[in-house]
Parts: sequence; structure tokens; C-alpha cells
Amino acid sequence: MTYVDARNLPHHVGIIMDGNGRWAELRGEPREAGHKAGSAAVRRVVRAARRLGLTALTLYAFSEQNWARPSGEVDALMGLLREFLVSERGEILQHEIRLVAIGELDRLPEIVRESLDPLRGASAENRKMTLALALSYGGQEEIARATREIAMDVRDGKLDPASIDVRALASRMPSLGVGEPDLIIRTGGEHRLSNFLLYGAAYAELAFTDVLWPDFTEVDFFEAIASYQRRERRFGRVLSRDASSVSPSSVTPGAPLCPDTDGAMRV
Ligand code: FPP
Repeated sequence: MTYVDARNLPHHVGIIMDGNGRWAELRGEPREAGHKAGSAAVRRVVRAARRLGLTALTLYAFSEQNWARPSGEVDALMGLLREFLVSERGEILQHEIRLVAIGELDRLPEIVRESLDPLRGASAENRKMTLALALSYGGQEEIARATREIAMDVRDGKLDPASIDVRALASRMPSLGVGEPDLIIRTGGEHRLSNFLLYGAAYAELAFTDVLWPDFTEVDFFEAIASYQRRERRFGRVLSRDASSVSPSSVTPGAPLCPDTDGAMRV
């Protein structure tokens, strides 16, 4: 049985939902069928995260690079997103979930925007959990955009270059509005970040599973969280065994951390 300790939950969990296409191919079905089954897994995991009491869940639903997929697949994904936003609206509001979206939202088609924007507005004051959908999102693109904004503020005399530090950059990244991810889960057997939450992932714990996203259950989710809870988070420091030094609970989870100034190697 999977044991999740309610006192040591990750605040912010990010998920790379991979394996929809392979799930469909294994069944001789079109890739779109995998994405449809993946939507059902999204519903399961959002409910489980809300029940557990996570502060934030960020789902990598569509990357900046996914626009290069065949147009039929892109259209199917946009249709599923809309379907999700329409069908889950009531439950999201009822359970006081704040829905936010990160990424190049201007690129999204009207069928998504017309269900996404009103739900973002209607749920803006909700405080029980933040559900962030990464849509047309890329971590490198987010870093580039924040850098561009900073450069313009320096050019306009609004910002002193000496004040630009880790936090200054983080504060301009929508993906970190809920704090850094404590745990990033990737399904589908690959071991990479694929441009997801790159800046915030600096100290995230990573959990990989071979389970294909449409097969991902609450139990798989709890197992990933339990594995997170068995780890010792050191944030580049040495933990004293008498617990008088830094302990994971004395580090504010989810808050951006500044790098060590001595350039020490961090593990
Ligand atoms: C990666 O699997 C998954 C995606 C590109 C899309 C994820 C979308 C969903 C789970 C459904 C819609 C989302 C919401 C929020 C309702 P892949 O297609 O790359 O799989 P493969 O590696 O097996 O080809």
C-alpha cells in the first residue's frame, strides 16, 4: 500500500503527461484516441491533487514545440482542451480551484480562448488549489521573454542592472507564480524535461514512470508523491545529522531560492 504523509506534501507538482500516442498505437487506434484517454487521466489526477491538498498542480498540456505536429492532431488536442474546460468548469469552481494558464496564450485558437478566459476570470479568487495548464508553453521561451522584459526596463531606465538576480527573473515568470515546483513527474518512460518549467526546476525532485499517461492512476500519483517524501532535499547544503542545520522543513517549499554565493557544487 502506498503511504502518503499529509505533513510533508510537495506544494507544487508539475506533470509531463507523456505516452498518449504510444498508448493509442498499442491498441491500433489513432493518436487522437490516446489524447482522449489522456484527458480522462487529467480529470483523475486533478481530483486526486485537490483531495490531497496540494497547493498547485501544473500540467504540460501543449508545448510550444507541439504546434509542429500534424494539424489534425493539433486540432484534436485543442478540441479536447475546450471539452475539458467546459465539462470541468462546474467542478473547478465548486472545489474552489483557481485555473491559470501559462505559455504563449495568444497562439491558442478562439475555441480554447472562449472557454479558458472566462474560467480564469471566474476562478481567480479561489484559494484551495491552483491548476496551471501549460499551453503553447516552453521553458526556454519563458526565460527569453523574462530576459527581454528586463532588458527593456533597463533600457528605459526603470531597472538597475545590479538588481537583476535569480528572484528578479523568477518574478517575471508566470510558471513560478505558485512557487518553484517541488516535484516533477514524467510518465511514458522518457527521462528528460522537454522544455518544461526549466528555470523553476532547479531543485525539483524528479519522478519518472514507464506508465503511459492514459493509464496513470491515483495510485501512480500517490506513489510518485510517496517517493518524493522518501528523499532528502538539501538544496545544495549539507544537512547536519543532529537536525540543527537546514532541514527540508526549514526551507520554504515552493519559494524561489537564491544560489549559493560561494559557487559550491550543489547536489
Ligand atoms: C504527450 O504524449 C502528450 C501531449 C502532447 C498532450 C497532452 C494532452 C492531454 C493529456 C489531453 C488534453 C489535456 C487536457 C488538460 C485536457 P505524446 O502524444 O507525445 O505521446 P507519445 O510520446 O507516446 O507519442
